[in-house]
Amino acid sequence: MVPTMGTLHAGHLSLVEAAAAKADAVVVSTFVNPTQFGPSEDFDAYPRTEAEDVKKLTGRGVDVVFAPNAAEMYPQGFATSVTVGGPAAGLETDFRPHFFAGVATVVTKLLLAARPHFAFFGEKDYQQLLVVKRLTADLNIGTEIIGRPTVREADDLGLSSRNAYLDGAARRSASRLPAILRYVVVALEAGAPVETALADGHTALEREGFEVDYLALCDAATLAAPKFGAARRLLVAARIGSTRLIDNMAVAAEA
Ligand code: PAJ
Repeated sequence: MVPTMGTLHAGHLSLVEAAAAKADAVVVSTFVNPTQFGPSEDFDAYPRTEAEDVKKLTGRGVDVVFAPNAAEMYPQGFATSVTVGGPAAGLETDFRPHFFAGVATVVTKLLLAARPHFAFFGEKDYQQLLVVKRLTADLNIGTEIIGRPTVREADDLGLSSRNAYLDGAARRSASRLPAILRYVVVALEAGAPVETALADGHTALEREGFEVDYLALCDAATLAAPKFGAARRLLVAARIGSTRLIDNMAVAAEA
């Protein structure tokens, strides 16, 4: 299974390709899940391109496109929510407190509806990937969660349906985000003090016009504070105008 919110781009299609290579049958869901959007977020504005999505999936080894509506997923009386601790704490949750309960609840429903052997998620949403791994293990769902690398534009910006919101100037600034992340990764791997490298990255982002929600170095497996010798992950969320971008990159363990 490949769960998505539709408006498919090459990032989604890379997950579909990985799924088709591994499994005999592939289900793609394209449900724009209302419960993971906050009251002041972009649920109404979120792009919806169902007919084009089905066209993009044709010839890619997809057997079922599951495109339910909100009333089918959340009929009257729906009263259950899946709450995840561990990797869901902090980062996105500090800025979008409703988000992971919405994601965890819908992903649980989608996986229990399809009961796939494997489900594919992008590292683009790194915290989400770890939250989904946690909940499938904790709830004995029996699906193996497979993470796949972020697909990027030619200028390195991670593909996202929300990139459509960026106008010319904001789009140019947005393309600086991965370069600044890479610069911080290089500094950290060269042994720069963590506080200094993060502060420099923060300043560089602000100079490009970003408002930084967080720029954090975490344990790559748990998102807790990194322990010596453990693989690390650098995660960022930053706003340019009214568009919020997230990205992340691997950072080698301290040696
Ligand atoms: P959506 O944003 O549509 O993303 C669907 C899947 O595609 C997620 O696993 C996401 O990480 C992955 N993805 C998005 N952009 C990517 C890129 N540039 N490279 C690689 N993978 C990418 O994430 C969601 O939907 C929802 O929260 C969902 C899990 C479907 C629950 O509603």
